[in-house]
Amino acid sequence: MCGILGYAGSSDILSVLVSGLERLSYRGYDSSGIAIISDDELCHWKSEGKTHLLVERHLKNLRIENFSVGIAHTRWATHGAPNDLNAHPQLSMNRKTAIVHNGIVENFAEIKSKLQLSTTFHSETDTEVIVQLIEHFASKEEFSFREALCLALKQIEGNCSFTVITEHDPKVIYAVKKGQPLIIGLGKNENFIASDMNAILPYTKRYLNIQDGEIAMVRQDGYEIIDFDGKPVAKKSHVPSEISGTLEQANKGSYKHYMLKEIDEQPEVLARLLHAYAGDGKQLDFMPALNSKNLNLAKLERFIIYACGTSWHAGLVAKYWIEEYVHVPAEVDISSEYRYRKGVSRRQDGVLALSQSGETADTLAGVQLSKEQGAAKVISFINRENSAMEKHSDGVIRSLAGMEIGVASTKNYLAQLLSLYLFTLHMARLKKTMSAKELARRLDELAVLPSLVRKFLLNKAAIQKIAKKYSSYKGFFFIGRGLSFPTALEGALKLKEIAYLYAVGYPAGELKHGPIALVDEKMPVVTIMPESDTYNKMMNNLEEVKARKGKIIAIATEGDERALAAADDCIFVPRVRSYLSPLVTVLPLQLLAYYTADILGRDVDQPKNLAKSVTVE
Ligand code: M6R
Repeated sequence: MCGILGYAGSSDILSVLVSGLERLSYRGYDSSGIAIISDDELCHWKSEGKTHLLVERHLKNLRIENFSVGIAHTRWATHGAPNDLNAHPQLSMNRKTAIVHNGIVENFAEIKSKLQLSTTFHSETDTEVIVQLIEHFASKEEFSFREALCLALKQIEGNCSFTVITEHDPKVIYAVKKGQPLIIGLGKNENFIASDMNAILPYTKRYLNIQDGEIAMVRQDGYEIIDFDGKPVAKKSHVPSEISGTLEQANKGSYKHYMLKEIDEQPEVLARLLHAYAGDGKQLDFMPALNSKNLNLAKLERFIIYACGTSWHAGLVAKYWIEEYVHVPAEVDISSEYRYRKGVSRRQDGVLALSQSGETADTLAGVQLSKEQGAAKVISFINRENSAMEKHSDGVIRSLAGMEIGVASTKNYLAQLLSLYLFTLHMARLKKTMSAKELARRLDELAVLPSLVRKFLLNKAAIQKIAKKYSSYKGFFFIGRGLSFPTALEGALKLKEIAYLYAVGYPAGELKHGPIALVDEKMPVVTIMPESDTYNKMMNNLEEVKARKGKIIAIATEGDERALAAADDCIFVPRVRSYLSPLVTVLPLQLLAYYTADILGRDVDQPKNLAKSVTVE
């Protein structure tokens, strides 16, 4: 979602801001813009579309002299269409102050209607309301800019972090943290503000988190932090940290798309996880951090799992594992449903919050809610470091997937699955629901997983061919049973989000309760049917589809002659125990979606309308 960057320093400000925008672009956006104070005057440029349009239309031959500070933004539209007018920065009516913003002002209509008596608005955004309100106070002589900002903040409701520069105080970037992440990047004789460390990684790895309810005032030579009442916040409560990531992680290398690179990184991710959490399959030292935190996991009597999108699918798989091996109930919710359905979490419940980014607004709200409701412990499964969700959780299990840039989540999904499976084994050990011998066997068998996945990924050509064959079809069904049902959902989501094709995942047993009415020769059905207890049932479903002339793409275990003979096309996945099948059956579905999207010329890494981190409701 929206990306924010600020710069106070003397390097070429346009190139710092433009290159930062490019590094923020993976979050997904539809317009971008820049504002700079030069010769104590505010200037700004913005454009709908990708950053290269901003550069081509406005910045190409521009040289900025005598600048002090600048801010930049990638916008993911919430209020108002993605066009030039609604792009950020938004300016005050007198054009002295500019803002870039991430989040939503819940009461913007109310504030706007009051301000409209004296102020002309130019955009449909809630953002403009903030800057007009600040300027409403700042243009009165009795208030300094800092006071004006604090007065405005008293009226603004909602999760919204933003950054402001102004002619009233031309050497300062004001950064307000109210929900959405913001950090100060600390460089040598230069400082930054960013919503995401990625934007500033080439310049510095040292950063400081701004906390909710704080305003950072950042200059080239330092910074100061105050609260929303304007009172200084002691510097000792902010200790700078250093990020461990490198720029290399955000590099496409020779790949056409990040998504394909990330699919190919999966064996490495699995190996890393096994090494970190399962002593390479030899011991179940599952995150000593979890034990040291006194989480009392053995006492938990129920799990509540919530997540969004692909992470939710990982949660659905975990439910099967937890109930079968830990013998406690596990409920799985979509975060945006959980937070409003007035569910109950109690002292005996363990909450598992799953999120690649750790920033997803609905999942974060769920974490806060469960804590308020008194859930025993909240354990988050997160990939990114230093996220808001991490701070609110009792324990964190990191997915160790490395930076995931493609909007479509792939390697993190596999990492979530393996982490959740290991967590299940850990719980089974604590609850004594699995013998030590069985546990050791299960850990041992995991050791081959990375090489099985690596081998599978070496043969992509056949999947590319199948993608080509079906790329002109307009709709797809994905069906599976048991552990393959969430995989069906995941396969359908991948195809929808990057190929923009209608695709729906169903539990195979449900097909005849309605959806089969849609099956004909124009509706390919992807049947996820690895060897399992329900294999024969899946075979029956496959025949039902065939009887209605539906085309079948079967995902089956290698050597499955029946599936090969029955399906129009068959993709074999490596033979693993049925309970591990979600870790291999999803691979061809990721590739099917990838190649279909590529063949159709879609923007694979940044599909339209989507954002990598969904930081608003
Ligand atoms: O960062 P999170 O895991 O919380 O994100 C959740 C979803 O937004 C995410 O999985 C989304 O569905 C992906 N685009 C799926 O590929």
